[in-house]
Amino acid sequence: MNTHSMNTLHTGRVMPIIGIGTWKLDEPEKAIESALSLGYPMIDTSGDYGTQPGIAQGLERSGILRGEVYIVTKVEEDEDAYQSAKRNVGELGIDSADLILIHRPPEEGVGERLWEGLMRARQEGITADIGVSNYSTGQIDKLIAASGEVPVVNQIEWSPFGHSEDMRTYCADKGIIIQAYSPLTRHTMLDDARLGSIARAYGKSPAQIVLRWNLERATVPLPKASKPEHQRENIEVFDFELSERDVETINALNKHYSALGDRLQYI
Ligand SMILES: NC(=O)c1ccc[n+]([C@@H]2O[C@H](COP(=O)([O-])OP(=O)(O)OC[C@H]3O[C@@H](n4cnc5c(N)ncnc54)[C@H](OP(=O)(O)O)[C@@H]3O)[C@@H](O)[C@H]2O)c1
Repeated sequence: MNTHSMNTLHTGRVMPIIGIGTWKLDEPEKAIESALSLGYPMIDTSGDYGTQPGIAQGLERSGILRGEVYIVTKVEEDEDAYQSAKRNVGELGIDSADLILIHRPPEEGVGERLWEGLMRARQEGITADIGVSNYSTGQIDKLIAASGEVPVVNQIEWSPFGHSEDMRTYCADKGIIIQAYSPLTRHTMLDDARLGSIARAYGKSPAQIVLRWNLERATVPLPKASKPEHQRENIEVFDFELSERDVETINALNKHYSALGDRLQYI
């Protein structure tokens, strides 16, 4: 496993196994230039983060070829998905995205019209693949029943302290890849003593243990970091492996914790 390793999506296309998050990046152009120089193979953004124009600048400054970085963006639940997809790609300064997600299910229904808009965007080459974010298994079932189209990804909050075995099994059965957002719990749980003791045993930081735990279980972490030292630490996770026993111990830290609210949105 390394930064060039890929997951194969059920459409046959491939997606990197780690990416950089960009929510609340103050200077996205600088942060993206730095992340790309460190070898991050994927960028996660959204129309509502306000970071897309900065990401476009960072991409340009980096000199990295478009084909060498995988770009994920999202459309909002109250938008026209097709128009929003076009606008996002324009803001990113690219011809097409690799993956566009419905950011969250709308209050009414499960986003059938949004999904149609994204299917049209894909047909017109605005994105290669389409997926969802913050969906429960029941909501994905309904979306598939309405459209016959299985999302390639469900991007959800996912950390050792908040994850779901039911969701993991469901996604594995359907060939859906879980992208882990807020994988570092917005650093609220990185000082957990049990995590700390595992980190010490490997000579790694708690953040690196959490990211490696994702990699070992084939979930795709999207850590956000503006500080170059954090960016470096978070990508230096390919020179060690967790033992099965330690993966089990980390799994057991689960208490359905959410760094964003009271509970995980998809449970
Ligand atoms: N689909 C959705 O609804 C959704 C929701 C939330 C997030 N996301 C995506 O997921 C990405 C990541 O989630 P997030 O931004 O909520 O939280 P996160 O990645 O869990 O945590 C980011 C925070 O951790 C700090 N950090 C980074 N590396 C660290 C390290 N090695 N040691 C200690 N602290 C470290 C960062 O500091 P510095 O920035 O100061 O370096 C930042 O304050 C987002 O940026 C976004 O792209 C998607």
